[in-house]
Amino acid sequence: MNFVAALSEAAEKNLRVLEDQIAPAIGEDPFIFEACAPLFKGGKRLRPMLFLLCANCKTSTPPEKTMPLAVALELIHTASLVHDDIIDTSKTRRGVETANSKYGAQIAVLTGDYLFAKAFQLVAENNYDAQVTSTLSKLVKNLCVGEIMQDRRLFQIPTLEEYYTQINLKTAIFLSSCCRLGGIVAKTDAGEIENLAAYGTGLGLAFQITDDLLDFFGDEKVTGKPRGGDLKSGVITLPVIRALETSKKSSELREIVTGGGSVDEAIKIILETDAVGWCTARAKAHIESALVNLPFTLKTSVTLALEQIASFVVDRTR
Ligand code: IPE
Ligand code: IPE
Ligand code: MG
Ligand code: MG
Repeated sequence: MNFVAALSEAAEKNLRVLEDQIAPAIGEDPFIFEACAPLFKGGKRLRPMLFLLCANCKTSTPPEKTMPLAVALELIHTASLVHDDIIDTSKTRRGVETANSKYGAQIAVLTGDYLFAKAFQLVAENNYDAQVTSTLSKLVKNLCVGEIMQDRRLFQIPTLEEYYTQINLKTAIFLSSCCRLGGIVAKTDAGEIENLAAYGTGLGLAFQITDDLLDFFGDEKVTGKPRGGDLKSGVITLPVIRALETSKKSSELREIVTGGGSVDEAIKIILETDAVGWCTARAKAHIESALVNLPFTLKTSVTLALEQIASFVVDRTR
């Protein structure tokens, strides 16, 4: 079931078509299919959904112009998750065992590479212009830079600015690019494309802040990934950054997060502070700025769906 109730019939249909095209896009090798297949269940499909909505923001764009790119975006996202789960040594994703846990890092690295290659093959074979491939390449490059930056600073406390640089690179630019690509494929004017991209940036920042809260306070059965994973792997996120500033037990918390201590202890200290409310308020502020950027000229059905995605992003539990 879709998490956006306000999707028009046309948008719902687009998503169903997308769903049917994902598995065949992986290819026929049974082992590779097996390595990838679990990852194709339970994803929210947020990135292709944003792209498809923006690609149909004024008039309908024929599915043959949108579907290959929509599938490619989900393949790229999934590839990044396969690699991210190696980096974070995470055992579950989308409620099932990760490729890394099941087959080891060697196979998982190659599975991620394979998915990246398949995505770019789809784009190359469907006559997209250079603006599309350039946007895609840049988003992958930025995602890698963000992940590398994060990995180089494990168990170190980032400044607020460093945290924002990382989440922008690894997450917000991806969501923003999905909206931008929609505008490019729809051939809307340059100003509108920038506004759609700015909507995506605000959405992306809020999305990652919420993800970072869910890492501490989410329900594993709903998120489909292990709770406390960030802290265990040394990734220090916004709730900790805020709690360190305001908690009376700041030095204790600092020791836990820089020394790989108990997640439950850290959670206890964080909950004694205003960190959760503060992070939620920040996420909401990014959503407000996302909404301010939505152009007035879009189809009502698309505006409604994009507004609903925005409220979902902060209220979500998965
Ligand atoms: C997970 O993205 C990675 C982040 C940027 C936090 P999603 O939460 O969109 O993952 P799926 O696709 O629904 O599994
Ligand atoms: C986003 O960060 C990962 C990528 C950009 C691939 P996270 O590490 O927080 O994502 P999850 O929580 O594992 O999904
Ligand atoms: Mg991770
Ligand atoms: Mg996370």
